[in-house]
Amino acid sequence: MLALRIAACVLSVISAVNCGGLRAAPYYMPLDNNGQDFDFSQIIKQTGVKQFIMAFPLATDDGKCIPTWDGKANLKIADDTVVLGKVKQIRASGGDVSVSFGGYNGVELGHVCGDVNALVNAYQIVIDKYSLTNVDFDIEGDDLGDVQGETLRAKAIKILKDNAKAKGKDLFVTLTLPSTTVGLSELGRAEIKRTLDLGAHIDLYKIMAFDYGGPGADQVNSVITIMEDVHKQLKQLRPDLNEQQVYASTGLILMNGHTDQPSELYTVDTFRKLIDYANQKKLGRVSYWALNRDRQCTGPVGWVNGTCSSITQQPWEFTKTLANFH
Ligand SMILES: *[C@@H]1O[C@H](CO)[C@@H](O)[C@H](O)[C@H]1NC(C)=O
Repeated sequence: MLALRIAACVLSVISAVNCGGLRAAPYYMPLDNNGQDFDFSQIIKQTGVKQFIMAFPLATDDGKCIPTWDGKANLKIADDTVVLGKVKQIRASGGDVSVSFGGYNGVELGHVCGDVNALVNAYQIVIDKYSLTNVDFDIEGDDLGDVQGETLRAKAIKILKDNAKAKGKDLFVTLTLPSTTVGLSELGRAEIKRTLDLGAHIDLYKIMAFDYGGPGADQVNSVITIMEDVHKQLKQLRPDLNEQQVYASTGLILMNGHTDQPSELYTVDTFRKLIDYANQKKLGRVSYWALNRDRQCTGPVGWVNGTCSSITQQPWEFTKTLANFH
C-alpha cells in the first residue's frame, strides 16, 4: 500500500499532477450529528480508513467574518480544543485531515469577508489551527454563482498557496461542486473558469455524485455516466492536462444509504462498484457524505438522517468499503 502511494507520487511529480492530497476520505462533522463521541483510534483500526474531511468551517450565522464550526458564534475555531483533539488523535494513528469550507447550509466566509485580506486571514486561522496541508471549498447553494464571493475566494486561494510555499509547504486545494444529470452545471463550470482566470490553482475537482435526482435502480451506471460527462467538461476547461491527469484531478463524492432525493439509493454494493470504477480510472480521491451516517438508524428512521443511513447495515460498513480505494 505504502509502496503503491510512493509510486503514484513519483508518477505524479513526473506528470505535474500534485500529489499529497487525501485519497479515501469520508466527510465528518466533528461537532454535529453526534460526531463528538467518535473515537478515531478505534475507527481507524476497524475500518482501515485514516483520512477524514472535517465539515464545515463557516462565518457566523449572523454574517461575521470569523471562522466558526457550523456557523455557531460560540464555536470559534480560534478557541477550539475539541476538534483539535480529534485531529491529533487521527494523526497519532497515522492519518490526516482536511477541512471543508462552505457546504449547502450556512454562510461561507467568502460571502461576508469583504476584502481579500480579511478572507485570507479567516481561512488562515483554520489552516494554522489544525496545521493543514489539505483544504476543500464546497461551493453549492447560493454560493454557486455568487461572482463576488467566487472572485474573492479564488484570489484568497492563490495567496494561501503562496503563504504555504513561503513556509516550505504545499497546500493541496480541492473544489467540491454539485452535479446535474449532464455533469457540471453552467455555474459550476463558470466557477472553475474563474479560478483559472484568477490564477488560483485547484489540485482536485470533487464531484458530488448524489442529490442530482439519480435513479435508485441503476445508480452505478448513472453515476459513471455523470462522471464521464464531467470528465469531458474538465478536459475542455483544463486543456493543459492530458487524459490521465484529468482523471487524477477528479474526485468522486458519494452519499451512503438514502440521500436527500427520494429516487436515489446508494447501497454498500453501489459503493463497491463505483470504487472499482474510481480505481480503474485512477481518480484522485473518493469521499462520501458522511462518516456520521455510517450506521443503521436505531430510532424513527425518516427518509434521510444526519446520524444514520436509513438502511439496514453493519456499523462502519461503508467506510470499510471505502478502504478499497487505492
Ligand atoms: C435520525 O435517527 C436517529 C437514530 O435512529 C433518531 O433518533 C432520530 O429521530 C432520527 N431523526 C429524524 C429526523 O428522523
